[in-house]
Amino acid sequence: MTLAEAVAEATRRLAAAGVEAARGDARLLICRLLGAGPELLLAQPERSLSQEEAARIEAAVARRAAREPVSRILGQREFWSLLFALNAATLDPRPDSETLVEAVLATLPDRAVALRILDLGTGTGCLLLALLSELPRATGCGIDINDEAVALAAENAARLGFGGRTDFRRHSWEDGLDLESEPWDVVIGNPPYIASGEIAGLAPEVAGYDPPAALDGGADGLSAYRALIPAAVGVLKPGGLLALEVGQGQAGPVEALLAAAGIDPLRRATDLGGIERCLLGRKARRNAASQAAVRRG
Ligand SMILES: C[S@@+](CC[C@H](N)C(=O)[O-])C[C@H]1O[C@@H](n2cnc3c(N)ncnc32)[C@H](O)[C@@H]1O
Repeated sequence: MTLAEAVAEATRRLAAAGVEAARGDARLLICRLLGAGPELLLAQPERSLSQEEAARIEAAVARRAAREPVSRILGQREFWSLLFALNAATLDPRPDSETLVEAVLATLPDRAVALRILDLGTGTGCLLLALLSELPRATGCGIDINDEAVALAAENAARLGFGGRTDFRRHSWEDGLDLESEPWDVVIGNPPYIASGEIAGLAPEVAGYDPPAALDGGADGLSAYRALIPAAVGVLKPGGLLALEVGQGQAGPVEALLAAAGIDPLRRATDLGGIERCLLGRKARRNAASQAAVRRG
């Protein structure tokens, strides 16, 4: 069988399985399995496949036809132009989450400052590591409730050259965020925010393959924000930056939770689809009146 024939056959199978971008996925999957980019199909359509290659392609196409995402089959995903390994315990990083990285960078007047960043629900480590790739003196800690996610984030950090500036720990924000004595300059997070009842109705690629702990935000999708916002504010420096990804329609309610916890709103950042995807705010500095009250007390 030739490469072109294999792509045509895989396209038919994936389309029959309801995969939207059947041809693009078939081409990408097969060319990547052959160690090349999708341009291989144009360059060598008549390349003949060995039996071993054909068998590997068959297995991968069967997985995609069962609606497993291409990134999970290949075990990697590009985010912020960096390559991240994925596993069953981690969310597949989404392009929309680059909005948070971009928005945080846009608020920093000087990228050479030695900022300390805490990442809540780090998954693959993509948000923290993307920021560190732009902030040469920053250091960071990523926490996640899942041990395998923590181990994978540490592996990603080491492979991308950020092992010396990062620390990943298994920890739940439900237990508070009292991790270190020094407060953080920046706290970021992309918590689970899908309402429990909506998960089954998501695309099979999401509902069937992203881990439930990365998706499930409780009855109204806001449970994680309620737990982590007060904890995050408690460990943020006065004037420090808090940046949280939110789901569609959640900017208003999450901003209200932030305000109630002492965060002054700074900006709502919109993703490429026009959805308010990230909220930025600063921890209020104590004003003179409240400082006087503290002194009197
Ligand atoms: C939406 S995913 C985000 C992953 C990654 N930051 C990203 O943007 O791709 C949410 C992450 O929060 C983690 N998580 C869920 N509940 C948690 C908790 N109580 N404490 C710490 N991490 C939690 C999940 O395991 C998951 O990795």
